[in-house]
Amino acid sequence: MKQLTTFRNQFDFQSIRWKDMIRWFPGHMHRGMKDLEQSLSTVDGIIEVHDARIPHSGRNTQLYQRLVGGHKPHVLILNKSDLADPNYLNKSIEYIQSEQPNTQVVHTSLASIDMKEMTNLFGRLLQQIVESPRYTRSSTVEYNIVVCGIPNVGKSTFINKLRNLFANKASCEQVGASPGVTRKMSEKVKISNRPKVFVRDTPGILEPRLKSADESFRLLLTNSIPIQQRELSDIIADYGLFLLNKYDKQRLYMKYCELDKPSDDILPVLLSLAKIKHCTQIYRDKRGYDLTGTALHFINEINKGTFGQITFDQDILDEKENEKLNDTNLFKTNSGRIKRSI
Ligand code: G4P
Repeated sequence: MKQLTTFRNQFDFQSIRWKDMIRWFPGHMHRGMKDLEQSLSTVDGIIEVHDARIPHSGRNTQLYQRLVGGHKPHVLILNKSDLADPNYLNKSIEYIQSEQPNTQVVHTSLASIDMKEMTNLFGRLLQQIVESPRYTRSSTVEYNIVVCGIPNVGKSTFINKLRNLFANKASCEQVGASPGVTRKMSEKVKISNRPKVFVRDTPGILEPRLKSADESFRLLLTNSIPIQQRELSDIIADYGLFLLNKYDKQRLYMKYCELDKPSDDILPVLLSLAKIKHCTQIYRDKRGYDLTGTALHFINEINKGTFGQITFDQDILDEKENEKLNDTNLFKTNSGRIKRSI
């Protein structure tokens, strides 16, 4: 039973210099974006992978505008749906399609997808690409598809699943060297003979500018921006706790951290967790709790779904839905007035 009813309704970003702590747009991203732009004339379709927990945050709209521009078929896979709140999966699709009506959006969990589901998923995506106008490429026999998205959303998982899917078929072959960590556009992988389809991976590319503190922290929470400064981990864990409370997801973290009531402060949560997990370190000859390590553990558990399925962008989706409802009500009221006045 909840004993604490009031939680922070805003996270205090003012007191931290979070912008200085994040390495946002490293050189390889800039290069990746350029490579992608240069190869666009030979691309027939773009498959973007994104984290279903953040349908708004981190979507690289600049990349979308520059690369897709409404001319190339663009399909978006909202991946990691196993970690997102099921009540918000369809709302996320509606939200994206209201902003980008030409984008086909699907949600899935690539980590647990089976061969049959993967065949269906890829079949749907391929159909969308093959059936779209090809303009200057209409006489070209082969189809080139690029897989893009921000880091850590499941792009490599998707490519690996595709490779597995076609691995037993003679049609699947690597063209060129095998890709390692994707820092530049990888070599093409042929995955089908009829039609001839090649797929290539791109490095994770973030938006070049920081948008808001909330958005940046959601990307840190989902590991799309790596936590390079360990000192930041307790603030990010606190932000995670803030969202768990804000979206009414207290039960599972209370149970896991053995708390008898929800907490709006990360310190008692980390102390309790450090005790349970025996997370200690020696500092100036004294053994004490390793709160930084424990904070990283807490963030990791959020990402494993231990504290339940959560859509970090829930507030943005709710806001959009309320706007839509208000518009509908306004329309109803106005049309009533118009009818009465006629
Ligand atoms: P990227 O290429 O976009 O950077 O992402 P990548 O495929 O490397 O996936 C990043 C992490 O997300 C991996 O975990 C991967 O297993 C996990 N992942 C991918 N799809 C899903 C999904 O549908 N659900 C969940 N829960 N996780 C998913 P990792 O811990 O970094 O590596 P590992 O566990 O695979 O070794």
